[in-house]
Amino acid sequence: MILNETYPLSDGRQIPKLGLGTWSIDDDKAAEAVRNAVALGYRLIDTAQAYGNERGVGEGVRTCGLPRESLFVASKVAAEHKTYEAAAHSIDETLEKMGLDYLDQMIIHSPQPWTEFRLEKRCFEENKAVWRALEDAQSAGKVRTIGVSNFLRDDLESLLSDCRVKPAVDQILLHITNTDLPLVEFCKANGILVEAYSPIAHGEALKNDAIADMAGKYGVSAAQLCIRYAIQLGAVALPKTADPAHMKNDAAVDFVISDADMEVLTHMERIKSYGDFDVFPVFSGKPLA
Ligand SMILES: NC(=O)c1ccc[n+]([C@@H]2O[C@H](COP(=O)([O-])OP(=O)(O)OC[C@H]3O[C@@H](n4cnc5c(N)ncnc54)[C@H](OP(=O)(O)O)[C@@H]3O)[C@@H](O)[C@H]2O)c1
Repeated sequence: MILNETYPLSDGRQIPKLGLGTWSIDDDKAAEAVRNAVALGYRLIDTAQAYGNERGVGEGVRTCGLPRESLFVASKVAAEHKTYEAAAHSIDETLEKMGLDYLDQMIIHSPQPWTEFRLEKRCFEENKAVWRALEDAQSAGKVRTIGVSNFLRDDLESLLSDCRVKPAVDQILLHITNTDLPLVEFCKANGILVEAYSPIAHGEALKNDAIADMAGKYGVSAAQLCIRYAIQLGAVALPKTADPAHMKNDAAVDFVISDADMEVLTHMERIKSYGDFDVFPVFSGKPLA
């Protein structure tokens, strides 16, 4: 069962192959979503300072009935924190908000503040300062695995050139029709595990006829095909839902997509619009590389 499977990380830890995404789950609904997910066997929960639900996610972790060490709790340093001090302070705030002694994973949410996402001005030096705050938080036992999100190859190269600890993960937009294979390969070659965010294209994959046809061929739902696709690429899949029936469906992915169909899915015509969510920088259509 996929919920029991893990990937090894470069820091020697293990991370579940499937986790619960919590973006857009309200703070007052997050604890119940986490408890429901844990009851179904989920062990990885992904939140972020920017989601406004760290308090609720933390409550869910503390009240789910399992020992803290059996869960993998992940959050993200907000994209706007681009100094050592701001990042370090925000990690302490996250722990306090969540009511936890440590996080299993903390990552830099974005290489640039959202207002500058994928614009010309890069933040290579700023990210090195933020990274040192993450390294120090790791040394202090506040966080275990450290990594990044939305980093492109040159963002990673800059960090790799000047770090005590290599980033263990890069959490990136990855779904059927939108897969940056060169970046995935670069991560693989450098021992960085890819985490697939928005694996269902923020819901848009559920409206796509070609994906529906392929899901029909395997007798699975479109959501299941999307999750299996990310996992077969060697990535962690982080679907979001607060609906226990969907959580259950998302975790029933013990089927295998053929190599030929993986090729078809990777190169299928790209989902171009995320509807109302196109306004979010991550879905703005700016090229990944
Ligand atoms: N690092 C970053 O910059 C970044 C950016 C975006 C997202 N993320 C992470 O990735 C997670 C997932 O991405 P996302 O929130 O954009 O969306 P997603 O997981 O790609 O898609 C979520 C949509 O799929 C639906 N869904 C899920 N399972 C389903 C099922 N079995 N059957 C039918 N519908 C199903 C959900 O509906 P219901 O809610 O009705 O179940 C929701 O509408 C986020 O929550 C967050 O943790 C990270």
